[in-house]
Amino acid sequence: MYSEKVMEHFHNPRNVGEIEDADGIGNVGNPRCGDIMKMYLKIEDDTIVDVKFKTFGCGSAIASSSMATELIKGKTIDEAMNITNKAVAGALDGLPPIKMHCSILAEQAIKSALLDYSQKSGVHIDGLEDFDPTDDPHDHH
Ligand code: FES
Repeated sequence: MYSEKVMEHFHNPRNVGEIEDADGIGNVGNPRCGDIMKMYLKIEDDTIVDVKFKTFGCGSAIASSSMATELIKGKTIDEAMNITNKAVAGALDGLPPIKMHCSILAEQAIKSALLDYSQKSGVHIDGLEDFDPTDDPHDHH
C-alpha cells in the first residue's frame, strides 16, 4: 500500500523541529482527521535557507511534510510556491488515493508559512492572493 519512500520518510523524517527565529511559520490542520502541521522557514534574499516542521498526524502526513521540507530547502520563494501536493506525493513515489489529502496538508503548510513571512516582512508573494489556510483539504483532490 505504501511506497518504500513513504515508509522511509515516515521512519526517518528529515528536518523535524522548530526554528526559533523563523521568518515565517505555517500552521495548518485538517478538521476532519484532526492532523496538524507546523512549518518554520528561514528566508534570506528570497531563498529558503532552512526549514523545519512538526507534524502531529498520520504517517502519510509525516512523510509528506518531511519530503516537502526537502523539496523547498535551498529553493527560492517562487520555486517553493510551485510545489504542489502532487509533486510531494510524486517525490514519495505516490500515496494511496485516500491519503492524497495528507500531501495537501504539506502544500498548505508551505504556503501558510510563506503567507506569514509575506505579512511580517511586507514582501509580496505572487500566488498567495487566493490561498486560504483554513480550506478543507478533503474538498479538492
Ligand atoms: Fe489526515 Fe493524513 S489522515 S493528514
